[in-house]
Amino acid sequence: MLDKKIIEKLLNAAKLAMPNAYVPYSNFRVGASVLYDDGSIETGCNVENASFGATICAERTAISAGAARGKTSIKAICVTNMTDTMVTPCGICRQVIWEFGQDLPVICSNKDGNYKILTIAELLPHAFDLN
Ligand code: THU
Repeated sequence: MLDKKIIEKLLNAAKLAMPNAYVPYSNFRVGASVLYDDGSIETGCNVENASFGATICAERTAISAGAARGKTSIKAICVTNMTDTMVTPCGICRQVIWEFGQDLPVICSNKDGNYKILTIAELLPHAFDLN
């Protein structure tokens, strides 16, 4: 189970990443944070591109930031946005999250910090797996 204090930390970290979102096309800001087994947190925001398919979501930006520092032992992921909706990761991000743990909790939050927690297995049943 995730400690309430940790959840608050993750929500705050994801929120702080949102102003850095590069969103000239959608104006839809997303922030994400990733908790590692050593207790550290990495953050990310969405980075859009004129070639829309080249856009990188906040979740993948955060996971990549951690990987670049040699961190892949993920304990939890948090995603937030600036609307009333508790946003959930897109399909590509679900597959990327799945890569790092099939029981990972994903905290899905709205602008007010309200959230729901779903495991990645709930979000992505029958994920693609090479094994
Ligand atoms: N987006 C994310 O960053 N994460 C999600 O889970 C859903 C979508 C971004 C991609 C794009 O920059 C914008 O939201 C609108 O689709």
